Amino acid sequence: MNETTVKKIGVLTSGGDAPGMNAAIRSVVRTADEYDIKVVGIERGYEGLLHGEINEMSGKDVSGIMNRGGTVLHTARSEEMRTPEGVAKAAQVCKILQLDALVIIGGNGSLAGGLDLSKHGVNIMGIPGTIDLDLDCSDYTIGFDTAVNTSLDAVNKIRETSCSHERCSVVEVMGRKCGQIALWTGMAGGAEEVLVPEDPVDFDKVVEQILENRSRGKNHNLIVVAEGVGHSQELADYIEKITGIQTRATILGHLQRGGQPTAKDRLAAGIMGYNAVKLIAEGARNRIMIVRDGKYTDIDLAEGLKYKREYDKTLYDILKVLAI
Ligand code: F6P
Repeated sequence: MNETTVKKIGVLTSGGDAPGMNAAIRSVVRTADEYDIKVVGIERGYEGLLHGEINEMSGKDVSGIMNRGGTVLHTARSEEMRTPEGVAKAAQVCKILQLDALVIIGGNGSLAGGLDLSKHGVNIMGIPGTIDLDLDCSDYTIGFDTAVNTSLDAVNKIRETSCSHERCSVVEVMGRKCGQIALWTGMAGGAEEVLVPEDPVDFDKVVEQILENRSRGKNHNLIVVAEGVGHSQELADYIEKITGIQTRATILGHLQRGGQPTAKDRLAAGIMGYNAVKLIAEGARNRIMIVRDGKYTDIDLAEGLKYKREYDKTLYDILKVLAI
């Protein structure tokens, strides 16, 4: 058993769920056990915090959850937490519950809520959990790998029928304003084109590419479109109208959020959950667990949320070379 003066912490999952969140909860609870810190699991993210929906959790309670997608604590997007009154109320609940720290597993919006809470004196440890890989301060967010593999599985299947029918397939993947799921899925799925919100989109260039492919004897095409670009059906209709090639649009949607977490996501969740509790036990305040240059580390919460990463086109450029 490790020594600490910390007595009690809370853990919640917030925003869109991500495969690996359960593994992160397990890691937080089991590491806290190691320090003899009490853990309360807060239901439905900030919604549950605002309404005091909590349950004490021990190592035994998190048995058999690390292999499951979703989150056993449930999650929500809380409108109330977007208001100063909601934040003040949530901070007051943390005080009443005598939480020495709150571990938040979630994406940008959820961690921004954590930053607001920290300004009221709540000690926040953030764990990036989102399929979108859109937290600029970290090279990795829990759930991304599973989501990409799920999209890839769908794309592989769509490619088969697209090939049989000599069609063009437009597949839209999630990612909010971030094109990473699209880029990775496109690269791994051998897409002819990927459209991401970080880059200007030109439907005519897509059509040109398809026509060029046809002149070289390529009779099926896969176009991956990021959610932040959208308009997949319009693009499919446009391609069909201009080229005469039958084109189908598929929006993969929420299936990308479910499924058993991959080894990579379980590992990231295990390490980040462990690091978060260790930091709390050692007296650290307001940090986000991150991956940078292949290393698991942590950064100041406010600084981390301010961080802006430049869009790196390298993956796209390689994809275009390989698509020829
Ligand atoms: O942030 C994860 C995510 O799945 C995004 O990719 C997507 O834009 C959004 O959540 C969908 O949210 P909801 O499940 O609330 O429709």
